[in-house]
Amino acid sequence: MATMAPRVRKFALTAHVTGSVGLLGAIAAFLVLAIAGLIGHDASTVRAAYPSMQLINQFAIVPLASVSLLTGLIQSLGTPWGLFRHYWVLIKLLLTVFAIAVLLSKMKLIGYAAGLAAETTLPRAELRAVGTQLVLHAAGGLLVLVVPAVLSVYKPPGRTRYGWRRRFEQCSPP
Ligand code: HEM
Repeated sequence: MATMAPRVRKFALTAHVTGSVGLLGAIAAFLVLAIAGLIGHDASTVRAAYPSMQLINQFAIVPLASVSLLTGLIQSLGTPWGLFRHYWVLIKLLLTVFAIAVLLSKMKLIGYAAGLAAETTLPRAELRAVGTQLVLHAAGGLLVLVVPAVLSVYKPPGRTRYGWRRRFEQCSPP
């Protein structure tokens, strides 16, 4: 992919930062509801929490995760950073893909929890087991995705072998 023009790069970077940091906010909201669903004594809070989590997941977390990954790929391939040249970019890619894979694998569980919360008599014990899993996964996902945010700002030095090779190729005289 050719290097992006400065204006296009800024536009794409804005989309990337908005989507990625927005994703952290959406997961934080999901975590708050998961905790409310788990420790809430009031049945109406528990009944409202799980369907709301399903909505946040479908209409905020999944779309924002896709934007973050897609725009991250564009920022990598359309700038001199590259995708496989610097460890900080590679680690961001791996962590984001890992977090999205775990998220997708938990979609059914969220729907299951929403179904349990809609039952006439709340199945408290079952909801506690599922709710604990959701709290742990949301908290874990948030912690994992803070790492890409930190790496992006600090951009620690460290090139991959491929990154060094590309650098020598560019420096070597024709
Ligand atoms: C939730 C995950 C992510 C978060 C929170 C995040 C956050 C950020 C932030 C805040 C910046 C701006 C840094 C600055 O300009 O100083 C940035 C830039 C960047 N990100 Fe991400 N990012 C994420 C995922 C990804 C992924 C998956 C990739 C690669 C596939 C990626 C590649 C890049 C690159 C190459 C830049 C530098 C762009 C440039 O200088 O034009 N990011 N990211």
